[in-house]
Formats: sequence, structure tokens, C-alpha cells
Amino acid sequence: MKLNLLTTSAVVLVAGLAFSCGGGEKTAETSTETATAEAAPVEVSLEDKYKDDPVYIKGLEKVKGSDCTGCHQVERKLIGPAYADVAAKYENTEANVTMLAQKVIAGGVGVWGEIPMAAHPNLTEEDATDMVRYILLLKK
Ligand code: HEC
Repeated sequence: MKLNLLTTSAVVLVAGLAFSCGGGEKTAETSTETATAEAAPVEVSLEDKYKDDPVYIKGLEKVKGSDCTGCHQVERKLIGPAYADVAAKYENTEANVTMLAQKVIAGGVGVWGEIPMAAHPNLTEEDATDMVRYILLLKK
């Protein structure tokens, strides 16, 4: 019984060595492939990343119902900054959400450049807040 076990572990050891040798070669061989393949997962869009989040769903609906999309896109600067850039700039805190919601309602200029954001006096604070929560969620 003892001998059997020893033989078995010896076989496993040899097999393991053989495997790791082969594996070693393979790693070197495929490393270039891995480098190119690595770029792919980064391409998962922020829309895909957050599409099931209730904050995302609610905010997106409200943003789409307003004029925001005319000046903002998620990952590309248009007339206004990309939402992803806004999310990267501000921490997702209650204070920032309130501050930015007020800005959406009152309009603003000078933070991202000389082009002003129009005021949205018809938005309720609740709607503006839901929109900003959605925007600040869009972190990479
Ligand atoms: C007429 C074009 C336009 C529309 C419409 C618009 N924005 Fe903007 N938005 C801008 C511009 C330009 C800026 C940058 C302002 C600045 O530099 O202070 C901006 C900035 C912002 C910011 C960042 C503010 C800051 O101080 O960093 C948020 C958040 C934002 N917009 C949300 C919205 C939402 C939500 C809507 C829809 C209700 C909307 N925007 C509609 C042009 C627009």
C-alpha cells in the first residue's frame, strides 16, 4: 500500500514536471497573443457594464426624455463633456450629486471650457438628481 502510494506520487511528479516544461514553452509562445487579446475586454462599453443597474436604468430614461443627449454622450465629448469624464472628475458623493443637480437646473460654464450648458428650469430636483446619479455611476 505504502509503495503503491509512493509510485503514484512519483508518476504524478514526473507528469507534473513534463507538463510544466511544456507549459513553460507555451507561455512564451502565446504571450504575444495574450498582449493583443488583452485590449478586447477593455472595450466593454460603460453602457454594457451598468445596463442592469437600477440607477442606470432610471437615469438613462430621464436623460433620454430631456435634451441632454443633444450635447452629451457617454464616452465621447460632444458639445458638453462625456458623462464618463464627468464621472471620472467627481467622486460619487451626496454633496457632489446635489451640487451637479443644481448645475443642471441652473446651467453652468467654465468648468469644462467656455461653452455654457443651458439651464433646465423645468426639471425637478428629483429628476436632475436621478440624472446626475446615472452620470456619476458611469465610471470605468
Ligand atoms: C446645449 C448643450 C447642453 C445640453 C442640452 C446639456 N448640457 Fe450638460 N453640459 C454642457 C456643457 C457645455 C457643459 C460644460 C459646462 C462647463 O464647462 O461648466 C456641461 C456640463 C454638464 C455637467 C458637468 C457640470 C460640471 O460643473 O462639471 C453635467 C453633470 C451635465 N452637463 C449634465 C447634463 C444633463 C443631465 C443634461 C440634460 C438635462 C445636460 N447636461 C444638457 C452642455 C449641455
